[in-house]
Amino acid sequence: MAIEKERACFNAYVQGFDLEQDQNRLKVIHTMHVVKIMQQIGRFLNLSDREMEVAETIALFHDIGRFEQFKRYNTFVDHLSVDHADLGKEILERSDFLDRFSGKEQQQILMAIQFHNKYELVPMDEKTIQYAKMIRDADKCDILRVFAFEPIESTTSTSYESIQNDVVSEEIEAMIHNHQCIDKTKRKTGLDIWMTFLGFFFDVNYPITMRIMKKQGYYRLPFDRIRFRRAQKQVDSILSEIENYIARNS
Ligand SMILES: [Fe+2]
Repeated sequence: MAIEKERACFNAYVQGFDLEQDQNRLKVIHTMHVVKIMQQIGRFLNLSDREMEVAETIALFHDIGRFEQFKRYNTFVDHLSVDHADLGKEILERSDFLDRFSGKEQQQILMAIQFHNKYELVPMDEKTIQYAKMIRDADKCDILRVFAFEPIESTTSTSYESIQNDVVSEEIEAMIHNHQCIDKTKRKTGLDIWMTFLGFFFDVNYPITMRIMKKQGYYRLPFDRIRFRRAQKQVDSILSEIENYIARNS
């Protein structure tokens, strides 16, 4: 395994937190999934062995700030606590976890991690942009798994019972039909929150990511578990819009 030293650092670091706690345990699982997806995207992009190590290291440490965030604030909601990506960058800068990499590679790793959760990327050199796009894609793929399989209350603050009577608000529906990511500040209903996950498809950087998301099929599982009392037609039309978009872009 190419990044053994970094994995050992990660494992030792997370031992400092309560791994019996679901939130921490699920972040470790998420991290391992993101590393695997990052490898798939890296192979698609024909990265060199060394570049692949950089990419895997970015995936391994992209959410390193989550553990400290939860310990300090008892939440993963960044705007109520701290930007977990900025915090992660600080933790890495204070550590020796990236010592095996050159100064330039360390900067690439830190930048990609810092920007993995930002609404938009800022200008960066071409290689760093590539790593940043890769981690943003890989992260989204696994967030769809979390959406489909982790308790819906903790991932979305909604419940299957309450969502049955919800509708998608007009503004959010328009974002989907205009192929825009969902602006989180505009969400009004529980079903609007669910739309955020479908909006991921409009912020995908590589066709391989679209293919992974399509093959997973996770994006529609929560919708398929419910018969919506008021919004079934609306949901069906949104899902078919998404599926047409996937077909055209994968
Ligand atoms: Fe993540």
